[in-house]
Amino acid sequence: MDNSVKLNEETEMPNLGFGVYQVTDQSEAKQAVLDAIEQGYRLIDTAASYGNERAVGEAIEESNIAREDLFITSKLWVDDTGYDATKEAIKDSLDRLQLDYLDLFLIHQPYGDVFGSWRAMNEAKEAGLIKSIGVSNFSIAQITNLAEFSGVKPDINQIEVNPFNQNTESVEYLQNYGVQVEAWAPFAEGKNGLFSNETLQKIADNHGKSIAQVVLHWNVQRGIVPVSKSTKSERMAQNLDVLDFELTDEEMKTIAQLDTGDSQFFSHEDPEMITWMAHRSVEK
Ligand SMILES: NC(=O)c1ccc[n+]([C@@H]2O[C@H](COP(=O)([O-])OP(=O)(O)OC[C@H]3O[C@@H](n4cnc5c(N)ncnc54)[C@H](OP(=O)(O)O)[C@@H]3O)[C@@H](O)[C@H]2O)c1
Repeated sequence: MDNSVKLNEETEMPNLGFGVYQVTDQSEAKQAVLDAIEQGYRLIDTAASYGNERAVGEAIEESNIAREDLFITSKLWVDDTGYDATKEAIKDSLDRLQLDYLDLFLIHQPYGDVFGSWRAMNEAKEAGLIKSIGVSNFSIAQITNLAEFSGVKPDINQIEVNPFNQNTESVEYLQNYGVQVEAWAPFAEGKNGLFSNETLQKIADNHGKSIAQVVLHWNVQRGIVPVSKSTKSERMAQNLDVLDFELTDEEMKTIAQLDTGDSQFFSHEDPEMITWMAHRSVEK
């Protein structure tokens, strides 16, 4: 099985990513990224709102891996939407990461002046500051609105995908529409007993793999790039060792039955959540 996906004409991205959400301690974040790169990860996923871009940048610098061999993603927080603010935010993310360019920059949430942001991101791409641009947590209506009214389709939509929230309608739509899907929280952060789920354990046993490995492989087999997080080296290695087996059609159908159709976290359509985000202050 390939270890990358083609994002657009020029760009390939690794099909397994490493994320650092909720790793707020700077030395822990730096060490996690150093360990992840050491274990073989090349796609690193951070965001301005995670408050650890500096630590990620230090790890990249220390890793001694050639810049072109890494695929670095960051994201625009809601308080920086709009044309001018986004231009500044891109510069700020690059400064904190100590990088000349980002491989991928995403609008983190579908709120605020995303059209202004999108224009600034397109210009930053033209200027070589960003290789690929995309969005996160956009519904299929929101992404179609942005793509059709701006004339530029996002390369990526990073959305919640895990066995309990499979987002099948969005995934099928985005794949037909030509937008690569990235899965955030592929393990649902362990919620709902994911790591002790009997159905998943049986499938894992069939292949001599762990539940985590089955879940990551299930994403890749659906054409989705999962971005998972662990601060433990042995789990990072395990989470990369997922491409040497195939799930049968029967196993795929069995996993499909675990879908609850609901987010394991919160709905991005919830007005209370949108209001909370609009007034939350974020340390970058
Ligand atoms: N765009 C967005 O809005 C958004 C939202 C959420 C997340 N994300 C991105 O997606 C990434 C992953 O999501 P996430 O961090 O929320 O959750 P996740 O990857 O679903 O789950 C992480 C949890 O799983 C545990 N874990 C990892 N590998 C394991 C294994 N092999 N066996 C048992 N436990 C394991 C980790 O524990 P240990 O660390 O102790 O190993 C951690 O508690 C984030 O880091 C971030 O980059 C994006």
